[in-house]
Amino acid sequence: MQLFIDSADVAELHAAAASGLIDGVTTNPSLIAKSGRKMKEAIAEICSIIPGPVSAEAVATDVEGMLSEGRYLARIASNVVVKLPLTENGLRACRTLADEGIRVNVTLCFSAVQAMLAAKAGAYFISPFIGRLDDIKVDGVGLIREIRKVYDNYNFRTQVLAASIRTPEHVRDCALAGADCATLPPKIFAALYKHPLTDSGIEAFLKDWKSTGQSIL
Ligand code: G3P
Repeated sequence: MQLFIDSADVAELHAAAASGLIDGVTTNPSLIAKSGRKMKEAIAEICSIIPGPVSAEAVATDVEGMLSEGRYLARIASNVVVKLPLTENGLRACRTLADEGIRVNVTLCFSAVQAMLAAKAGAYFISPFIGRLDDIKVDGVGLIREIRKVYDNYNFRTQVLAASIRTPEHVRDCALAGADCATLPPKIFAALYKHPLTDSGIEAFLKDWKSTGQSIL
């Protein structure tokens, strides 16, 4: 499973990149606003930190505006993926950008039929927001299973990028459901390393080792 970081904070991204485990980055207008940075500068810097796909989201809602913004964002760096919302206009723009060779991440997906339309429009990634479905008492991970099945039934190549991940259990469940990628807030990525038995196991091993009086080197 590819692991992406959902952040536009370059300090957080440097820290996550040092793990050697991060395959890409996703941003959205809220995350750019939170960073306090100019979008072009922030995306350019993020693209230099992480060589994998970096999603940068258009904010226009009409097709021509999405195309202009999408082409502009795609020129910032070769690893930019243009993020567009799952609307009729978003999918029309997706089709055009995909035909131009620009990768598109279709975002704000909340149903399997929306995901099917995005795949037909040539989306490179589909981003189902599982946490926001859980918020309204709908099974977010269930949507990942449904999309996986639909895509496999018809051999769609669009990658399933699970988003709005809130817990390490979401990551586990999305991996079991066959998501190609998951995008995680940095604190959830950090939590993936953790298990109380790992910590107590290290503590016991070190205590016993100390009692030997040895050193390895
Ligand atoms: O990648 C989309 C993600 O940022 C949304 O997460 O927690 O705001 O639903 P959340």
